[in-house]
Amino acid sequence: MPEEERPLPGSMHPAKLIAQPAHRLSGRVRAPGDKSVSHRALMFGAMALGETTISGLLEGEDVLCTAAALRALGAEVVQEGPIWRVRGFGVGGGQEPKDVLELGNSGTAARLLSGILASHPFVSFMTGDASLKNRPMQRVIEPLSRMGARFVGREGGRMPLAIIGSDEMVPIEYRLPVASAQVKSAILLAGLNTAGETTVIEPEATRDHTERMLRHFGADVRTAPAADGRGKRITVAGWPELLGRDIVVPGDPSSAAFAVVAAAIRPGSDVVVENVGLNPLRTGLYVTLKEMGADIAYENEREVGGEPVADLHIKGGGLRGIEVPPQRAPTMIDEYPILSIAAACAEGTTRMLGLAELRAKESDRLSSVAAGLLANGVRHEMGPDDLVVHGAGGAPPGGGLVTTHLDHRIAMSFLVLGLGARQPVAVDDGSPIDTSFPGFAKLMNDLGAKIGGA
Ligand code: S3P
Repeated sequence: MPEEERPLPGSMHPAKLIAQPAHRLSGRVRAPGDKSVSHRALMFGAMALGETTISGLLEGEDVLCTAAALRALGAEVVQEGPIWRVRGFGVGGGQEPKDVLELGNSGTAARLLSGILASHPFVSFMTGDASLKNRPMQRVIEPLSRMGARFVGREGGRMPLAIIGSDEMVPIEYRLPVASAQVKSAILLAGLNTAGETTVIEPEATRDHTERMLRHFGADVRTAPAADGRGKRITVAGWPELLGRDIVVPGDPSSAAFAVVAAAIRPGSDVVVENVGLNPLRTGLYVTLKEMGADIAYENEREVGGEPVADLHIKGGGLRGIEVPPQRAPTMIDEYPILSIAAACAEGTTRMLGLAELRAKESDRLSSVAAGLLANGVRHEMGPDDLVVHGAGGAPPGGGLVTTHLDHRIAMSFLVLGLGARQPVAVDDGSPIDTSFPGFAKLMNDLGAKIGGA
């Protein structure tokens, strides 16, 4: 189907999916490309001069929205078999888009692109699906307005959003009020087209793909401890000449997580998930699963595109409940839904703390997870920013129908619960899975799962 005719993820064709209880999983699968790295490879390629080639790009709906937006800004973005080629417009060289930028379900596209658009001297418009229109944009509007851009949005700065950009932005020094790699990246990207040095101070370290990859494209990005000893200063120098590069996208640890947990909760399973990116700022789930007693070995450790990567070898067995400290949240922020499933099968209680940001994701993930656990007979308590799950010490009841609220990770997490439960688990709409993990059901079924349409 031509890209422009593709339905918005999850918006028009809800697809109920059911996962049947599985015996044990086995086999080798390859993790799909990393979503965060894929967005950045396309965007930085568009901001560079010359050609960028990308292999391993995640061809999920979210990333395709970014590709389309960059084309609207004047970049040439083409797919040739497994390779994507980008011919960029250079820092500050984008053209006024002729239409509203449609960003589907993607918060990363919306936040990072607002940083790029803010420093261009034209008006652009962005919108998205019902989930994205509900997500907070004030967190990028605030710092980018301080730099000189203006925004008109719905109440609370929500999308649709008009961005009135400026090519006379002023550099700022900004301490992030929330731990967010998206906000950090939006400011750094605006800083690329701003004279002088723009600095973001992050009290808690978040994924650093932007910093790593911008350096690879030739930008001057420096990091240093913050003066008060709390966190890190990240400084980007304005107007670098970014040059096209070859990028290899590693597999996504956030997507690999579903197969890893599915194997870990089914005793007797023996699964290898190849090519998993293990950037230390993304691996909180794996640290946590090991603390819970999961048998996960890192094999064939290597570097791919400047990021550490390994094949994960998981053997299923019993897990035990633990306390997950709040400081770990930025390194596993997308993994709490699937961790809750591991916790539901573990022996004892798992306490997850510091989860306030989960309420600002594709859905209010704390409430979505709690509702899904309730529907499947898993005892739990939800607080304003924490979740306590009382595990069944084996297969939990299951048998529920879970509302996904246009949230891919809610859909995939509860399908994994279905594999590990006594009764099948259904999700009302599996279509958002394509935003981050096209082929999820097939990959899981290749390991011995039974996930299918209702
Ligand atoms: C992302 C950062 C995180 C994460 C999201 C991807 C990124 O969001 O939840 O899925 O690519 O920078 P926040 O920056 O809002 O924490």
